[in-house]
Amino acid sequence: MRDVAPVDDFARDGFLVLPDFVSAASCDALMARSAELVATHAPETISIFSTHEQSRRSDEYFLESGGEIRCFFEEDGRSINKIGHAMHDRDPVFERFSRQPKLAELVSTLGIAEPLLLQSMYIFKQPHVGGEVTPHTDHTFLWTDPPSVMGLWFALEDATVENGCMYAIPGSHREPARKRFHRDDRGGTTFEVLDPTPHSLVGEVPLEAKKGTCIVLHGLLVHRSGANTSARSRHAYSVHVIDARASYRADNWLRRSAPFRGF
Ligand code: FE2
Repeated sequence: MRDVAPVDDFARDGFLVLPDFVSAASCDALMARSAELVATHAPETISIFSTHEQSRRSDEYFLESGGEIRCFFEEDGRSINKIGHAMHDRDPVFERFSRQPKLAELVSTLGIAEPLLLQSMYIFKQPHVGGEVTPHTDHTFLWTDPPSVMGLWFALEDATVENGCMYAIPGSHREPARKRFHRDDRGGTTFEVLDPTPHSLVGEVPLEAKKGTCIVLHGLLVHRSGANTSARSRHAYSVHVIDARASYRADNWLRRSAPFRGF
């Protein structure tokens, strides 16, 4: 596996770009299945976005999505932004993809001894519509002690600087997280600022990725993605894995009644 997953590069940079990790056919299968999930899960969302209590109810819709398949829309309320956050457990097509042995082997090689699949997201990044994602670390959102979250991001279509590929700052995973997103005691969420210094983007590199590429992200790696200014969509699927040996904070936003499962 070492030739497939260069562990030294991951330790140095905090990310890995693995071209041709999954087949084009499996990317196509996820894309087709995502359209079916939107068709069967979207109506509920649209009704939520049309109520007076839009903000409170959309918060609830998000906070209760940890064990569900739910559709999230762009700010215009019409274009689909993403599906989350438990397709890996709730949908057979996504479960097969997310629990393929090759992924288990990759995660194990990179040091997660007792993996638990925490969340899955299907990101549409639509032509001319898909917005940017500002610099952040995934550990900010999925906090364990010690930090253990690892992101597995799959390009289902070619991702380029034009259609909103990811960017990362090599080595930034060696610094502590500067913010923590968690539930507050009023039933909402808050960003706790641990260090107000904004991330410097000096040294940032674009992570362009051909269809079928897997990008592995260390939980403390600072990364972002650009807006899609092109006429081409940029579909991607991601799975986040933690190590069961680390302790998962009780006030993390993602909560569910069914226990997290491994591969
Ligand atoms: Fe992220």
